[in-house]
Amino acid sequence: MPNPDRAALIDRLPKAELHLHIEGSLEPELLFALAARNAVAIPFASVEEVRAAYDFSNLQDFLDIYYQGMAVLQTEQDFFDLTWAYLQRAAADNVRHVEIFFDPQGHTARGVAFETVLDGIERGLIAGQRELGITFRLIMCFLRHLSEEDAFSALEQAMPHLDRIHGVGLDSSELGHPPAKFARVFAKARALGLHVTAHAGEEGPPEYVREALDLLKVERIDHGNRALEDPALVRRIAAEGMTLTVCPLSNLKLCVIDEIAQSPVRQMLDLGLMVTINSDDPAYFGGYVGANYHAVADALDLSADQIVRLAQNSFTGSFLSAAEKALHLERIVDAVNG
Ligand code: HPA
Ligand code: ZN
Repeated sequence: MPNPDRAALIDRLPKAELHLHIEGSLEPELLFALAARNAVAIPFASVEEVRAAYDFSNLQDFLDIYYQGMAVLQTEQDFFDLTWAYLQRAAADNVRHVEIFFDPQGHTARGVAFETVLDGIERGLIAGQRELGITFRLIMCFLRHLSEEDAFSALEQAMPHLDRIHGVGLDSSELGHPPAKFARVFAKARALGLHVTAHAGEEGPPEYVREALDLLKVERIDHGNRALEDPALVRRIAAEGMTLTVCPLSNLKLCVIDEIAQSPVRQMLDLGLMVTINSDDPAYFGGYVGANYHAVADALDLSADQIVRLAQNSFTGSFLSAAEKALHLERIVDAVNG
């Protein structure tokens, strides 16, 4: 049930977003504008037709459309426009820090240079920091449906830019592509000083979450829903203080859950897990981070303390320094009191 005090608290709390694919923030309007600007043919006649196509029954269904949509992103300016549009949405939700994913292989495979992608996204992030006060980290993801060799090649392309890329992640089709496939490339990324995270337990079994922890040595688990099927794994995630980046509206749209009331957020809080709320691919899943907070808070009747905990977790689980985290946590206290 909606509750005005709770809604106002959500809106005024400072938040971090830790699970956001920048290509998944491509709204149909921008998709059309970029298709026209770059003379790229798209199989849709109108924005309404695009939105109607966003009806998915699983992750792969979505990914097929997501990779199609990316084709309109061609120039450095396109990646800037994409990033800037996302940051304005984030600012409206009082997001103060973002750690965003990008999929370089989704672009280099189409002939767009790694540097074009990186330069445009980074310029957007720097503009966001300067004009909106939103700090950032940038995480490149390996596409897990592609080979280990392909992932090594993506990491090689990142090598001249390691001062501008803060971490690596693992995304795309989970089933059949376990974390073990990328153990060596993650070892190299860690040796280079990069942060590491991976999607696990969205559709894949608890064993994939274990592999992400043991073989990839991740600092966060993206999604992690299916970890709840394994009590020993839950105890371990709690004991390690491992952050889970849960994405409620994504889970609903990709049929990981049948209704928002089935979101694992409340159960994870009750189990003492470091759960966070994120939007994943907001242009495709129907809501930015604020909408995700409101949806779960209403469906699960979360208390003010639980909502504050979710916002705290978003900073605690970030790749910010301890001093930066402490500043954000103080601002949360101010928002609660004010
Ligand atoms: N899961 C896996 N890969 C992805 C997703 C997701 O939700 N979004 C973009 N790539
Ligand atoms: Zn994701």
